Amino acid sequence: MSQDSQTTPPADEVTEHRSYPRSAAFRAFIADNWAPRPATLPDRLPAADFAARRRRALGALFPGERLVFPAGPLVRRSNDTDFRFRPHSAFAHLTGLGTDQEPDAVLVLEPRAGTATGDGDGHGGGAGQDTHDAVIFFRPRAGRDTEEFYSDARYGELWVGVRPSLEEIEALTGITARHLDEVLDAIAKDAGEGGLAVRVIREGDQQITERLDEARVGAAADDTAREATREAMTRSDGELARAASELRLVKDSFEIEQMREAVAVSARAFEDIVRALPEAVASRRGERVIEGVFARRAREEGNGTGYDTIAASGAHACTLHWIRNDGVVREGDLVLIDAGVEVDTLYTADVTRTLPITGRFSEAQRRVYEVVLEAADAAFAVARPGSRFRDLNAAAQAVIARRLAEWGLLPVSAEESLADEGQYHRRWIVHGVSHHLGIDVHDCAQARREMYLDGVLEPGMIFTIEPGLYFTADDLLAPEELRGIGIRIEDDVLVTEDGCENLTAMLPRTVEEVETWMAMVLL
Ligand code: GLY
Ligand code: MN
Ligand code: MN
Repeated sequence: MSQDSQTTPPADEVTEHRSYPRSAAFRAFIADNWAPRPATLPDRLPAADFAARRRRALGALFPGERLVFPAGPLVRRSNDTDFRFRPHSAFAHLTGLGTDQEPDAVLVLEPRAGTATGDGDGHGGGAGQDTHDAVIFFRPRAGRDTEEFYSDARYGELWVGVRPSLEEIEALTGITARHLDEVLDAIAKDAGEGGLAVRVIREGDQQITERLDEARVGAAADDTAREATREAMTRSDGELARAASELRLVKDSFEIEQMREAVAVSARAFEDIVRALPEAVASRRGERVIEGVFARRAREEGNGTGYDTIAASGAHACTLHWIRNDGVVREGDLVLIDAGVEVDTLYTADVTRTLPITGRFSEAQRRVYEVVLEAADAAFAVARPGSRFRDLNAAAQAVIARRLAEWGLLPVSAEESLADEGQYHRRWIVHGVSHHLGIDVHDCAQARREMYLDGVLEPGMIFTIEPGLYFTADDLLAPEELRGIGIRIEDDVLVTEDGCENLTAMLPRTVEEVETWMAMVLL
């Protein structure tokens, strides 16, 4: 439902106001007398073997080509302060690295000699045979005898902690590791016209993309030729981004387990919220209390929240991306909470519950809630292998249109409203009811339409089902008693061999379940 976007603010010159001792005596003094680094290497990541299989599957689509996946740089929040680092999703998926690992790193899949033409089926490499060798370039920890060690606030060990060594990253991932200093040459080698085909995830790291563009455009004869090369590059890079996105449409068993964990922690955080409702009601900004309670559990048991929490009390619930969360929480109102915990491997839940603040729904609130629930159940009923992704939305919208028509809110019949040229019912639900979910809250966003919206559901897919109805306070077409009521119910769903599993089923959904649960927790 939300549209997350990550942009890198321009890295303006930052005036340095810190002062570091630079005398030779100090430098010799601070470099000395530290305990040796650990003698043992870390265990291989649980995700490492899964990531190797993902790299093999992706590499097989691009035999003979160099594929470049940047983790991305630190992103400036303001002045000399960065956002917490989060690697690009394709990098995380293909390396198994998660939280905080590793700013500026680049995964390169280097084509193996002799695999360029594939094995005759149009794809390089047979089952299990690697077409590429993987290399991770990153900035390993600097020695204690370097200036970086004590004076670099972005990377220095005394500022941000110890980074891994090349050997440690190799032990964690099973991927050959090389120093970041070598990356620009390594990715550009033989990348000019007539050389090796190279593709990069363009949005990953501007510096990497620019270096590759320069190398690939290289000696193009004139401006027209350069422009044509640039267009071809952007197109072929887009195909890599698309393939990396489509690779995540069906989750492997490791990813499913991570999603179960993300959902389990999220469910505990929702229960924390119910417990904190009296505190929220007493607060000047009760929505912030709710946001904070969720964030605490998310940060304690996971990496944090997978997206900005929506804590929307009363009519705020009708603002779809209400993340300001600065409102009061009043008895008699509902509060819509859309929140998900992201675990350390970066998989996130995405859950919405709309709760009556007193623990009991009013008659009008219940009426709207029951329709949203019926719409969700209709989508659940078609969530099975063989259905199309767009059937989920169609099933839910059909219920919404039918009920709104019965309430006399539509200027046409439900059937006419559901036709493409109608869609009147969408006034009260402008968003779609499903999206894929995983490392990104809106996962697989670059997948082709025929694989996503028009795609056929397969076991292992995970997506949301999240219908809603929103009657804003100033909506003159809405019955007066419904104005200011916004309701969404959002569950996370795994497609199984013969149907689906509601991963968020531990959180009450029906009116009765919600009221019983709240009564128990609030006791
Ligand atoms: N919380 C974002 C969404 O529901 O899509
Ligand atoms: Mn969602
Ligand atoms: Mn959501």
